Amino acid sequence: MKTIRDLDIKGKKILIRVDFNVPLDKEQKITDDNRIREALPTIRHAVAEGARIIICSHLGRPKGERKPELSMSPAARRLSELLGKEVKFAPDCIGEKVEEMAAGLAEGEIMVLENLRFHKEEKDNDPEFAAALAGLADIYINDAFAVSHRAHASIEGITHHIKETGAGFLLQKEMDFFHRSVSNPIRPLTALIGGVKVSSKFKALENIMQKVDTMIIGGAMANTFLKSQGIDMGGSMVEDDFLDSAASLIKEAKGKKVNLYLPVDCVAAERFEEGCASKITPVQEIPRGWLALDIGPATTTLFREALEPARTIVWNGPTGAFEMDTYARSTMALAQQIATSHALSVVGGGDTVSAVYKSGWPAEISYISTGGGAFLMLMEGRELPGVIALDS
Ligand code: 3PG
Repeated sequence: MKTIRDLDIKGKKILIRVDFNVPLDKEQKITDDNRIREALPTIRHAVAEGARIIICSHLGRPKGERKPELSMSPAARRLSELLGKEVKFAPDCIGEKVEEMAAGLAEGEIMVLENLRFHKEEKDNDPEFAAALAGLADIYINDAFAVSHRAHASIEGITHHIKETGAGFLLQKEMDFFHRSVSNPIRPLTALIGGVKVSSKFKALENIMQKVDTMIIGGAMANTFLKSQGIDMGGSMVEDDFLDSAASLIKEAKGKKVNLYLPVDCVAAERFEEGCASKITPVQEIPRGWLALDIGPATTTLFREALEPARTIVWNGPTGAFEMDTYARSTMALAQQIATSHALSVVGGGDTVSAVYKSGWPAEISYISTGGGAFLMLMEGRELPGVIALDS
């Protein structure tokens, strides 16, 4: 992949696509600026090289409408604070006014464009819209890993209308860590996969199964696997449509000699609620109508032991309903286990990343991805449209 470092950007207008899709509170204050911080190395490099910098991103899902609460201006302000430098803000992402502002940028100056998704043409990958964006700059840089699974105008379409393209440092780093953890890992490679739905992760499970030495399945999705083996999961969330697929994946693991771990006990609760009646029970003995909301202590120990020999660990999906403290124990313990292991550890997915932060161990994880959907697409063994579109 050609990167921003391979391009002569001095004095050139460069359009950097970032993912500043950050969470905001009711007062439009940014509650987590990690994605903005992660884009800083590319932006600082562009400033140091004397490029004229135009930054664009989406925020939320405004569905082609101009929604003031989804303006990029808080992100632009935060970027300015982090850089300690003035950042101009354009009232739109295309049009005469924006072109004028772009043309007036001095070397090292930065301008942030308004939310790309205020135009429905962004998501439609409309060629005219993509050409209008491309017209603002000489060079296009994609540093938006977290949205590179979307073939949108600012991610894919634009690359057909601009002469030079390349990856930013964040995109490069994300692809590099994924490659080191899944495509070309130091073995043994262990995957810990959790989360709620087998349906949304089945393709990823199938693909990862081809790569790993050990596969650990936790979270509500494990219920479907257990039920596929004839275990009555009480009132737990189970996807009956996926029972056959789950059973065949278990069979495949056996055939491939992949060590597959499933829960043996769980924290079962009367309702999906903090503070209601709950108890630790073997998975075979969940009281009638109760729900498995976390894996139990015996399973946590089993999973910790299974993680121990790993030299590479990929983690996607919490092992319990960790947003409620009563059901957070296993996820917190496994976060600690992964953080303190000597393995290269790569964590991806919004909930998993939140869990790692909640555990207090983020600094010890080798790499925390900024991507949710993009990370999952890579786990499915698919290439990202935003990466394919770049010059190599
Ligand atoms: C994300 O937060 O996962 C990315 O910014 C993509 O957002 P989207 O799912 O709205 O396309």
